[in-house]
Amino acid sequence: MTSPPDLAIEAHGLVKHFKETRAVDGIDLVVPTGTVYGVLGPNGAGKTTAVRMLTTLLRPDAGTARVLGHDVLAQPDAVRSLVGLTGQYASVDEDLTGAENLIVIARLYGFTTFAAKRRALDLMEAFGILMEAFGIAEAANRPVKTYSGGMRRRIDLAASLVMSPRVLFLDEPTTGLDPRSRNQVWDIIRVLVADGATVLLTTQYLEEADQLADRIAVIDHGKVIAEGTATELKRSVGAGSVSLRLAASGDRPRAAEIVERTLGAEVVLAADPYAFSARVPDDGADLAAQVLPALADAGITVPEFTLGQPSLDEVFLALTGQPVDEGDEDGESRPAGGDGDGGDRSTRRGRRAARGSAPGARGEPSSTIDGEVA
Ligand SMILES: Nc1ncnc2c1ncn2[C@@H]1O[C@H](COP(=O)(O)OP(=O)(O)OP(=O)(O)O)[C@@H](O)[C@H]1O
Ligand SMILES: [Mg+2]
Repeated sequence: MTSPPDLAIEAHGLVKHFKETRAVDGIDLVVPTGTVYGVLGPNGAGKTTAVRMLTTLLRPDAGTARVLGHDVLAQPDAVRSLVGLTGQYASVDEDLTGAENLIVIARLYGFTTFAAKRRALDLMEAFGILMEAFGIAEAANRPVKTYSGGMRRRIDLAASLVMSPRVLFLDEPTTGLDPRSRNQVWDIIRVLVADGATVLLTTQYLEEADQLADRIAVIDHGKVIAEGTATELKRSVGAGSVSLRLAASGDRPRAAEIVERTLGAEVVLAADPYAFSARVPDDGADLAAQVLPALADAGITVPEFTLGQPSLDEVFLALTGQPVDEGDEDGESRPAGGDGDGGDRSTRRGRRAARGSAPGARGEPSSTIDGEVA
């Protein structure tokens, strides 16, 4: 038996345009086998488009990509047999039970009727274990439409594991999940990688990439604007950030000025008029401790104050000199503030909902590669 290739994913100069939109504009990615690779970027950065090209669902306009040594254009079947994909939007059937969904997916992978039945039986046997592992045993026989969002996400993830893929693509696996569900998904990912899988996950959360990824590519407007380990990335961003929410929105300009002066760092105003955040300089832990007293001296009430990791917005500010901007050709704006993990999420989710459901990647295993799989 030959040893697996050192690189699970290798992409050079990947490009995908949609009319005038350069969704992916020359991306290089190198992902060693057995690692977790994080692709971090805001709405419209090109994350899903890149994942769809790497999983053979979308034909690149230019560039090359190989998965475990197989070219996505020349050997799409080989690639499909090795990868699993949990798309950004749940692709399970609402009216089927969790268990039925998993069976249907196994059949979609191209088993003959006989083999599919047999496989279904094996799967039925395995469901108990699989479901137990996902903590939703009692839900396995209820229609998915009765599931909570977190449970749907987990059945979706379970479905992409039916074939034990060696390379798993997870497109925003935890967006919209509560912290508990998010932690469960993180644990599942850690187990998969411990078992030898390679995972490429896209996320809007620096914290998620930091928790899971060995290396991270930050992408914006279809380009990689930074690449490295979380530590390297954060070093370029600063030690962390302070996020504040004031009692009165009218205080914000004055409060922002005080915080800027105290930390010696630029503040990022959130979409929420009561809130803003600022980077803490590398050696600025002491300075951060002075923020609240300085605001209290000025008579400004601060009901919410957190000292935490830099947000995606702060990463972008550090890397590009600009907050996450309004970049989508379809008129979507991106919030300039927020903590990357809460305040602005509903806005982002809302926009997604408004945009409608993208094609579910799994469930189309036999679709042919072309420009517009839809
Ligand atoms: N099928 C399509 N037709 C036209 N434009 C598209 C299509 N798919 C994506 N785009 C555009 O390409 C750009 C990148 O989109 P993509 O979905 O890859 O971003 P993303 O990083 O996944 O964003 P999000 O975080 O919102 O999921 C956006 O401007 C988007 O509107
Ligand atoms: Mg996406």
